[in-house]
Amino acid sequence: MRILVLGSGAREHAIVDSLLADPAGHDIVVWPGNAGIASVVRCIDAGSIADPEAVAQQVLADPVDLVVVGPEAPLIAGVADAVRERGIPVFGPSRAAARLEGSKAFAKRVMADAGIPTGRAVRAGTLEEVEAALDRLGSPHVVKADGLAAGKGVLVTADRAAALDHARTYLEEGSVLVEEHLAGEEVSLFFLSDGHTVLPLSPAQDYKRLTDGDGGPNTGGMGAYSPLPWLAGAFGDEAAFVARVRDEIARPVVAQLEREDTPFIGLLYCGLIVDGDSIRVIEFNARFGDPETQVVLPRLTTPLAPLLLAAARGELGGAPDPEFSPRAAVGVVLASEGYPEAPIVARPLTGLEAAAGVPGTRIVHAATRRSESEDVLLSSGGRVLTVVALGDDFAQARSRAYTALDRIELPGSRYRTDIAARVAP
Ligand code: AMP
Ligand code: GLY
Repeated sequence: MRILVLGSGAREHAIVDSLLADPAGHDIVVWPGNAGIASVVRCIDAGSIADPEAVAQQVLADPVDLVVVGPEAPLIAGVADAVRERGIPVFGPSRAAARLEGSKAFAKRVMADAGIPTGRAVRAGTLEEVEAALDRLGSPHVVKADGLAAGKGVLVTADRAAALDHARTYLEEGSVLVEEHLAGEEVSLFFLSDGHTVLPLSPAQDYKRLTDGDGGPNTGGMGAYSPLPWLAGAFGDEAAFVARVRDEIARPVVAQLEREDTPFIGLLYCGLIVDGDSIRVIEFNARFGDPETQVVLPRLTTPLAPLLLAAARGELGGAPDPEFSPRAAVGVVLASEGYPEAPIVARPLTGLEAAAGVPGTRIVHAATRRSESEDVLLSSGGRVLTVVALGDDFAQARSRAYTALDRIELPGSRYRTDIAARVAP
């Protein structure tokens, strides 16, 4: 199959690795990619991937069997619509369906209409409305920008003044959402959707905060692991949990969007809070999660490309659930100095070959590029790479991931040392 993947992060590198692992063999092109992706497949740069016409022109000029859209910005800009209109299968929702991620108020409305369990939320357009909502919903306070904010638009705090300050910042750009605080364990569970039928992948847990012990600001994600052995406690086993999320959340939301004539075709990311046996939605995303994808896809044993193509063509009906290896996967993000506020970039990154030499370990690139002279690898953004290790158990996977990280040098960089520690006694 000839496949064009749009994006440049570790998520896209993990998708490419997974596509390449298929013995059927695929011809993969990535736009724009990064230095790590360019070392395994051809990368192109034909302008902005968030420009629907540019993407449509590219696939007309150089036809492919499937387009896979990695990040949310192109989806919200209507890139999938432009490709689909040209009759080319695309894994990624339309602009209308991607509002599930692009507008938190839209997502709340769809959840209410579909009867999906979630926290209470109040949309506020003025500071007075925010104050009333904070008092009504109580502490800890949760204040969110309504639109996209790369994981940084959310503040969870017991400090009312800080909550108001956060609201003030985002009110300048539009409305904010004040939400009921949901306590419990966060779980990310992905579903492939063809607009009608959904197929689950395996659950993962993401570490959103910057520092060990869940301190510091929210980030795009500092690490992840999969599977989640502790789900067995409340649900009996992982399969029972997954079936409940499918029946109570994924199917109803996909059915609701189908009824509204905006079918969701692509990856439905369910961001959940699990408390005892209660499951509620914190958010939906309209694409694979990062860094969860880096730990979920290496465990997938069913070939990925046919699944994505079947979803894009509306042909998931009757397909068996994708299968996963029971092995433990741990992913740790290496971030630049200054991340998330003001990452310092263009620093030399070394030791990757030695790191990749640790058994069961892959270095998945996010923000890397080659210097002009091509001989030096440089950092080019906040989250620079994910070290992903597989093991027979979490202790082995963790020890592999951290041994590999020890071998990587990036001045000023940081990573969390507690990823998956809770599942590795
Ligand atoms: P979001 O951008 O909606 O994914 O929120 C980012 C992170 O903020 C989530 O992963 C949670 O850790 C936290 N968060 C968001 N909403 C809530 C909520 N209602 N209750 C508790 N934590 C939340
Ligand atoms: N890991 C969080 C996200 O992808 O949005």
